[in-house]
Amino acid sequence: MKFAKDFLFGAATASYQVEGAWDQDGKGKTNWDEFTKIPGKTFEGTNGDVAIDHYNRYQEDIALMAEMGLESYRFSISWARIFPDGSGRINQKGIDFYNNLIDECIKYGIVPFVTLYHWDLPLPLEQQGSWLNKNTVDAYLEYALLCFNAFGDRVKHFITFNETVVFANLGYLAGAHPPGIENDPKKYFQVIHNVFYAHAQAVIAYKKLNQFGEIGLSNVFSPAFPVDESADNIFAAMHANQFQMNWFFDPILLGHYPQYVIDKLSENNLLPDWTEQELATIKKAAPLNDFMGLNYYQPMRVEKIKGEVGAHINTLENSTGSPGNPSFDHVYKTVKMDNKRYTKWNWEISPTAFIDGLEMLKSQYGQIKLYITENGLGDEDPIIEGEVCDISRIHFINDHLLAVKEAIDRGVHIKGYYAWSAIDLLSWLNGYKKQYGFIYVDHNDNLKRKKKASFYWYKDVIASRGATLK
Ligand code: BG6
Repeated sequence: MKFAKDFLFGAATASYQVEGAWDQDGKGKTNWDEFTKIPGKTFEGTNGDVAIDHYNRYQEDIALMAEMGLESYRFSISWARIFPDGSGRINQKGIDFYNNLIDECIKYGIVPFVTLYHWDLPLPLEQQGSWLNKNTVDAYLEYALLCFNAFGDRVKHFITFNETVVFANLGYLAGAHPPGIENDPKKYFQVIHNVFYAHAQAVIAYKKLNQFGEIGLSNVFSPAFPVDESADNIFAAMHANQFQMNWFFDPILLGHYPQYVIDKLSENNLLPDWTEQELATIKKAAPLNDFMGLNYYQPMRVEKIKGEVGAHINTLENSTGSPGNPSFDHVYKTVKMDNKRYTKWNWEISPTAFIDGLEMLKSQYGQIKLYITENGLGDEDPIIEGEVCDISRIHFINDHLLAVKEAIDRGVHIKGYYAWSAIDLLSWLNGYKKQYGFIYVDHNDNLKRKKKASFYWYKDVIASRGATLK
C-alpha cells in the first residue's frame, strides 16, 4: 500500500488566513480587510489583520513543515501585496516576500504550489465592481503575468483561482462573503463567467512563456447524490450536479458551458453577458489546462423540493457548507441524513462518497490529471495535559488518503494530496476556534507554534509513502 514516488504529499494555506501583516511593507487593502470589520460578519469579529503572522514567521513555519517531511506547500499570493492598487504601481517588497517564501521552500526541497487568487481582492478593484467589472479581468491578467515572470523560474505549479463557486455563491447569493450581496443569481453567473474568462486568458498567457510548468484551477468537489432512489430525487441530484459541478468543470476541461444549464438560464433570463470572443478564449484554453485541483470536504445529499421551499439558513456557525438550504432556483435542497456522520460544523464525513465522486468525474471527463488541493477536518481540538490530541483529524485524513489510493487503483489520475491545512489558521467566518492544521497556534501565548498528534502521524505517512495508513 504505497503511493508512487512522484505523488506529492502536501498541505495548504491561503494568504488572508495566515499572513497577517495587513498593512506591512506597502501592502494595499483588500476586500477582506474591509468586510471583516463590518459588525456581525464574522465570528466574534475575528479578522486576518494579524492572523497567525505567517508573513513574519514564515521561516519558522517552513522549518516545521520540513520537519514533518512535507513534499509540497500550497499557499496563495496576496495580489494587494504586489499591486497595492490592483494594477499599475508595483510594490517590490511584496515580490520580495514571495521570493523569500519560495526560496525557503526550495531550500528544504518543498515544492511550492502557488494559488494566484484565494479570495483577497485589492480594495480598489472591489470598489469598482469586483468580478462584475471586466476591468478586474484585465487587472488579473496583469497580476498573473507578473507572478509568472517573477516566480515561474522556481514555481512549476500555478492555480489560477480557488473555488469560484464559493466566492461567487457566498458573495452574490448568500451575502456572507464580500461584496455581501444576497439573492442575485444574474450577478452570480456573471461573476463565474468573468472569472473563467480570466482563467482562460491566464492559461494562454502562461503557455506562451514556455516555462515548462503546470497550470490549472481548483474547484470545490462536492458531488451530489440523491437521498433515495426515487425518480424525483435522482433528478434532483442530476440537476444539482449540472449546476454545481458541470457548470464549473466543463468550461475549464471541455471549453464550453453545459447545455442543460445554459437552457435553464436562458429560460430565466440569467445567462451571463458574454461575447463570442470570450467564449472562444475559454474554448482555446481548455486543452492547455494541465490539471484540475479538487477541494473535497463532503458530498451533497439532495432531495427535490415539492412543497414549501423553506427559509434559507445562513448563520455563521453553519456558514459555508452545512446542509439544509434550498438551491437558488428552488429545485432541490441539501439534506442532513440520520445515517451519516458529521463534523461539529455539520459537514458530512464520507470517504466513500469521495471515491464515488471521483469515479463520476472519470466517467465524464476521462483520465484528467487531478490534485486534491484541499481536504481536511475542521474541529475544536482537545488539549490533554498540554498536548494537542487531534485524533479525529488523524482518522479523517487517514480515511480520505485511503480513498485517494483506492481511486488511483481504479484508474483515477491523482498526482498529489494537500491536507487543509498545514497549520491552524483563520477560518473565514468561524474565527480561530475551527482548527484544521497539523500545527497548533496558541493565540493566548504570542502565537506560539506547537506540533499536534497529527503532525507526527502525517510525518510517518509521508516517510512510509502511505504504508502506515490503516
Ligand atoms: C475552503 C477554502 O472552501 O474551505 C478554505 O478554500 C477554507 O480557504 C476551507 O478555510 C474551510 O472552510 P471553513 O469555512 O471551515 O474555514
